[in-house]
Amino acid sequence: MTDFAPLYAAHLAELQRRTAEALARGGFDHLVVPSGTLHYQFFDDRDYPYAVNPQFKAWVPLTRNPGSWLVATPGQRPKLIYLQPFDYWHAVPQAPGGYWVEHFDVVVIRTAEEALQHLPADPARCAILGEPQSALRDHVPNNPPAVVNYLEYHRAHKTPYEVAMMREASRIGVRAHRAAERAFRAGASEFGIHLAYCQAAGQDANDLPYSNIVCLNEHAAVLHYHDRDRVPPREIRSFLIDAGAAFHGYACDITRTYARDTGSEFQALIDAVDAAQRAMCEQVRAGTDYKRIHLDAHLALAGILKEFGVIKASPEAALATGVSSAFFPHGIGHGIGLQVHDVAGFAASDAGGTIPKPEGHPYLRLTRTLEPGMAVTIEPGLYFIDMLLEEVKKNGHGDSVDWERVDAFKPFGGIRIEDDVVCTEAEPINLTREAFAEA
Ligand code: GLY
Ligand code: MN
Ligand code: MN
Repeated sequence: MTDFAPLYAAHLAELQRRTAEALARGGFDHLVVPSGTLHYQFFDDRDYPYAVNPQFKAWVPLTRNPGSWLVATPGQRPKLIYLQPFDYWHAVPQAPGGYWVEHFDVVVIRTAEEALQHLPADPARCAILGEPQSALRDHVPNNPPAVVNYLEYHRAHKTPYEVAMMREASRIGVRAHRAAERAFRAGASEFGIHLAYCQAAGQDANDLPYSNIVCLNEHAAVLHYHDRDRVPPREIRSFLIDAGAAFHGYACDITRTYARDTGSEFQALIDAVDAAQRAMCEQVRAGTDYKRIHLDAHLALAGILKEFGVIKASPEAALATGVSSAFFPHGIGHGIGLQVHDVAGFAASDAGGTIPKPEGHPYLRLTRTLEPGMAVTIEPGLYFIDMLLEEVKKNGHGDSVDWERVDAFKPFGGIRIEDDVVCTEAEPINLTREAFAEA
């Protein structure tokens, strides 16, 4: 395994550099970041799964520590205020350990309120990044836009440490995807496949970066299908799985689609999307407008639909009339890192501003021009979704579709292939394909 210590040291130095600039822009002396608190269900004493403040896990690979705080002051060692409560009801976090600890002044506290004694005295001098309910007396999160915009904009550029974390997440995800495929081939239900995935990843709902999407047959036409039938369908035709994994707070986001009958026409359609997806991943290069990749994907996917006899219009016409969007109704991807849908996808600069989405493409989540260090997903898909196909008819474009061909593919639901790709000065790094090749 990679030695994370030197990578982390360089990552921390970069965070400190960014923080000094962000604080200068906002006119603050300290960056203060609560890890977050537990949220409780209404009329109940049950807590929701804890989700760490992403601004906190950007500094330290701690994802299960509510009530802790990070304080960064330019020119000083960062301070970690670490809550280790006296509690015999719940497992208490271990003393912090690992390659990152030596860089911090660690103060252990036993109650959440004790943090106040260790936070900078004057909250007016602090940029406090967190949710409102993390407030401790007058240390109330203020989330100054100048500070948040700067940090979030630059978070798109992953440090080598962050790429290493995402590589580990990808290895775990791929291991679990392979187990899921085996479960599918063995005839398991959606729920059974999900359990096989979690078992192989060693992660479940509390750990995974998003809720697994596990679809057999027509369910693959539901973009975010989360139902997971407990019983397998009588006839199993196809399998789409969109599932990730986490490592030290970083995510992978991977989708694969399989045909039960590998000699079938649906398998040929999968293979065509897969080949097109690989070409799209090659477009992840410095200077490329991500919007361009999205629009080119429409042309490539419409070309495949034409080749398979599903549409009759040219790819250009299909894009112009919105017919391609009926089959590919989501964005080509998004930034990824600490969050599966990473922040600042539309940021025009580190001081604010928005780069709009192309007209008619409301679900694109990233409109920036790619630069070295940016990590994105590339996830083209083709689906047979009744609601959207009805729209095509209503909009007067029914003639550009061969409805018999649609009916032939509908029982398979759809196809999505998704990789995580890092933009570099030269060749892109495809973390997902790398991990599959290694497995
Ligand atoms: N897993 C959700 C997505 O691919 O964006
Ligand atoms: Mn994705
Ligand atoms: Mn996904």
